[in-house]
Amino acid sequence: MANSRSGDSMTDRIVRVLDTFTTERTMQTATEIAARTGLPASSAHRIVGDLVAAGLLERDEDNRIRLGMRLWELALRGSSALRLRQAALPHMERVQTLIREHTQLAVLEHEEALFLERLSHPDAGANITRVAGRLPVHASSSGLVLLAHADPPIRERVLAGPLRAVARETVTGAATLRAMLTTIRRRGYVVAPGSIEAVSTGVAVPVRDHGEVVAALSVVLPRDSATAAAIDALLDAARAIEKDLNRSR
Ligand code: PHB
Repeated sequence: MANSRSGDSMTDRIVRVLDTFTTERTMQTATEIAARTGLPASSAHRIVGDLVAAGLLERDEDNRIRLGMRLWELALRGSSALRLRQAALPHMERVQTLIREHTQLAVLEHEEALFLERLSHPDAGANITRVAGRLPVHASSSGLVLLAHADPPIRERVLAGPLRAVARETVTGAATLRAMLTTIRRRGYVVAPGSIEAVSTGVAVPVRDHGEVVAALSVVLPRDSATAAAIDALLDAARAIEKDLNRSR
């Protein structure tokens, strides 16, 4: 693929354009996109135009740009995330009925917890997770489970820091975190009070596919809630999801 004068390929430049969209910034003008990519304005505008023509970006009547449905369609087609989400959803709904709080499914993606699904209850407490949003692995209950079961090189890279304090109670010491990860592997679940925000407690368990941990299933409870029922519901759901995944490929 043709390289620009700065040496980055066309694919790099397209990715830079797409990467300007975040869970908080879903609509932008072409000028804002161009400024955020750091690419020459003419080149960024051309790429935005081409991506709109291809349906990967969409332009609304006010000329603002958002990610296109076609991108969503292509991304989901045959993706392992879709298979996982489909296997998990009925069991997440059971957790939801029992616990009546937020229930999430997350995978490890580039050393962060990426959320594939979130179910909420009308009376549920605070929760900062978003579908297609990310949380740091050392601070969220899902992330801690994923980190505990990650390949050792990934675990070591995260433990090497920096381990940012997201809330006052986020564990930021590598030795303490390492010991926590060992406990998570031994116990099969984590309870993380106040780790992401002071008002909530995350509870998470691993989900295995043919023996390998591929996701974390979690609930977010109001800070001082009892956790035993949530742990039991999550462990039951994880076992049921694993059974369904083992039947499929
Ligand atoms: C967690 O997984 O620990 C967690 C996630 C979102 C929150 C609170 C806790 O809002």
